[in-house]
Amino acid sequence: MKSGLAALALLPVMASADMAPIPAAQQAYLLGCGGCHGIDGVSNSQIVPDLKDQVGWFLNLPEGRRYLARLPNVAFSTNTDQELAALLNYAVFTLGGSSVPQGAKPYTAREVGELRKQPLTETALFQYRSKMVETLVADYRAAPSLRRYGEDMYGSKNQ
Ligand code: HEC
Repeated sequence: MKSGLAALALLPVMASADMAPIPAAQQAYLLGCGGCHGIDGVSNSQIVPDLKDQVGWFLNLPEGRRYLARLPNVAFSTNTDQELAALLNYAVFTLGGSSVPQGAKPYTAREVGELRKQPLTETALFQYRSKMVETLVADYRAAPSLRRYGEDMYGSKNQ
């Protein structure tokens, strides 16, 4: 409660004209993705996977890199290829933080444009993800928290 009040006290400052504008890619994320994934990439981790300090692990695998741009919610976004690449780079490199492997290259508009033409279907998605997560945890020392998405509250798989 105390911190909530402190945040309220900051509101007039945040609304002032000298506050830096929110970058376009972050705005697009907040509008198109933040409702499910949360403003910082964390929401209900069992229903929607966390992005914060976690999503970058997928860049260790070529299929993981492709997976992120082929996700239905990403591929079918109404953004142009250019905007989508910037948005995805924000979601993966900025929110992904410490999980991003060293030397990983940002997505280009051309790459995203090609990948979004091959969207993943809902049915195969969960198994596809689970297989990669097991490889990432076993061979790339990814955090086991990657497994939380799809677990029920007792920790067992529900799909
Ligand atoms: C309707 C809710 C919803 C919206 C909107 C949404 N996502 Fe997701 N996202 C999910 C769910 C659920 C998954 C897990 C895979 C699946 O079922 O699609 C996911 C998976 C992901 C992943 C892979 C993370 C992992 O650990 O597997 C990324 C990256 C991602 N979303 C980014 C985005 C971006 C970028 C946007 C906006 C363009 C977006 N999402 C919009 C619900 C959503």
